Amino acid sequence: MTDSDPAALRRAVIQHLEGFQRAGLTHWKRIAPLVVETPQPVAPTASTGARPHHVDASPGSSLSSHSPSAPSLPSRAEVMPAARPNKSSTASTGAVASAPVVSACATFQPLNLPRGERVSQLSVLAERVAACVRCQELASTRKQTVFGVGNPEAKILFIGEAPGADEDAQGEPFVGRAGQLMNDIITACRMKREDIYICNVLRCRPPGNRLPSPEEAGNCREYLDGQIALVNPEYIVCWGSTAAKNLLASEETIGKLRGRFFEYGRAKVLCTYHPSYLLRNPAAKKDVWEDMKLLFKDMGVDLTAKT
Ligand code: URA
Repeated sequence: MTDSDPAALRRAVIQHLEGFQRAGLTHWKRIAPLVVETPQPVAPTASTGARPHHVDASPGSSLSSHSPSAPSLPSRAEVMPAARPNKSSTASTGAVASAPVVSACATFQPLNLPRGERVSQLSVLAERVAACVRCQELASTRKQTVFGVGNPEAKILFIGEAPGADEDAQGEPFVGRAGQLMNDIITACRMKREDIYICNVLRCRPPGNRLPSPEEAGNCREYLDGQIALVNPEYIVCWGSTAAKNLLASEETIGKLRGRFFEYGRAKVLCTYHPSYLLRNPAAKKDVWEDMKLLFKDMGVDLTAKT
């Protein structure tokens, strides 16, 4: 994009504003001038060296990302997974209660911020993602980045693989056919899409919907971990093997990973089949339903009970 390309500039501005909206910003009290002398990083430092932008630099503002009380996101080194079995833990419920819970990241540090800070810092992170060019091929072929959407205080965070064509066009995860099926699953679980936070391993569409490369997943990991740290969910659902293997740093198949809980920071992680797989293999829907029942039973909700 160049300054002389008004259409691209307009798209960038719209995407920038939509990033705030997706991060949960519903109104703007006041737009303060951008006066930042010594900005503190509010998100992990990008390898590009990009500095975070600030929404409202006024001291004490709920949107101030550098108020004295604003905690920083953990550094990349702090959030990178160090796969380690946690043999002392056991799955808390369900058919495979005796299976060990694996702590995929003993050092991951979630944050516990007030809603306004979460919104603010998610917005900052979304801006950095929108400007990200770590993966040259993805950055040059995407229509836009697809950051994530949903409740910044969600109890459950969903992780998919990567945006497809529909998501690339609309800037929101899971809005195509797989997303429709995911919505049906959410409804069957008596939840609303807005109750959940939804993101992907990648924030850019891989051309032709190919699998994310390990390098691309590594480049985007800081953003994924940033979103998990800020939303600080109690539960994470990994939809499909790309999400499961990447988050848990596991080589196991999704068939082996599903049906039991893992740990990531403070969150319990459940892996299940990707909705796209279900579209091709409807017989696997019953397994996903078992996984959802396991998840909700752990939350104290019996999905088989009549409402
Ligand atoms: N598949 C994914 O994994 N993520 C999306 O956002 C859409 C389809």
